[in-house]
Parts: sequence; C-alpha cells; structure tokens
Amino acid sequence: IIREGYEHGFINQAIIEKYAPADKNYSIYMSGPAAMIHFVNQEIKKLDLRPGQVRQEMSGSVNPYFFKNYPEEAKNKTFNMTVKTRDQIQVIPARSDESLLVAMERAGIIAPSSCRSGVCGACRSRVVNGKVFIPFPGRRAADSEYNYVNTCVTFPISDLTLQVPVHDYANMLG
Ligand code: FES
Repeated sequence: IIREGYEHGFINQAIIEKYAPADKNYSIYMSGPAAMIHFVNQEIKKLDLRPGQVRQEMSGSVNPYFFKNYPEEAKNKTFNMTVKTRDQIQVIPARSDESLLVAMERAGIIAPSSCRSGVCGACRSRVVNGKVFIPFPGRRAADSEYNYVNTCVTFPISDLTLQVPVHDYANMLG
C-alpha cells in the first residue's frame, strides 16, 4: 500500500534536503537497524555537516564485516585484549566480529555501558595500544587524538590493551 503524503523507500540525500533548512542549521537523529544507519550515514556524508549535528541509535548488534572499509585480514580472528581497570589487569579473548564491550562482558568483566549504540559515552575507554575498527563516523577530535573509543561500537583488529574507567555506581546512587 502506498499512502499519499508520506515518503517511501530509503532515506537519501534528496529526501533529507527536501525537508531540512537550506542553511544547514539543523541536527539529524537516526534510530533503527545497523544496515539503515550505515546507509543513511553514507548519504549524510554528501551533506557536509559537522559530526556534532548527527546522532544515532542502533537496534540490534553491528556486524563490522558488513562495512566496505573493514580490513579483510582481521576477519574471523580472535585477538588477545588486555583489560586494565583501577585495580585489575586481565587478558581476555576478543573476537573481531564482536565489540570490545561484548568481549569484556563474555569474560565476566562488569564494564560501564548504557545505550550500547555509540551515543551516550558511558562506555568510553582508552585504547592504550593495538588497533581497532570503528564503523561509524563522528568521534570527537580530542577522543581521536587521545585514543578514546566507545567500546560498544568498536571492534578489535589486532591484539590490544584497553584502559577501562571504573564508575562507582553504588556511591552515585547513595
Ligand atoms: S554504551 Fe553508550 S556509547 Fe557505548
């Protein structure tokens, strides 16, 4: 059924420009499955917006192999991830198709998280060494410079060391 008065099909550059102000003074908020978010991000790149103008929330898990710029040589590998918290150092397995956050949870580490979509920053941790794949654009310049990542949307592509902040939730709740 095609209903009058609604757009149909993929959300592309033309549809966004049809409704967005010409002066580019607006924000985009996307919510949906990873494949949709990936497609719309490619279209948004053509609009020449600042990273801060785009927010996204994914449902379901992301498969990094789906992305064109994913390095072939990392596929189907399991790496060693050294996780440092305030008072513990652990070496755990980290599969290349699972986020750093999921690898920690599998190993029983209670790592901080909330949205699990790369939006809230609750899982923000520092990659001390090693390489990671970050599928979605929009990382803050300071985070890139000092190697901070959102572990929920970051994937290992080599052995690595991660410094994870410990939040004292019990005290925060009083
Ligand atoms: S849990 Fe929100 S950004 Fe990772």
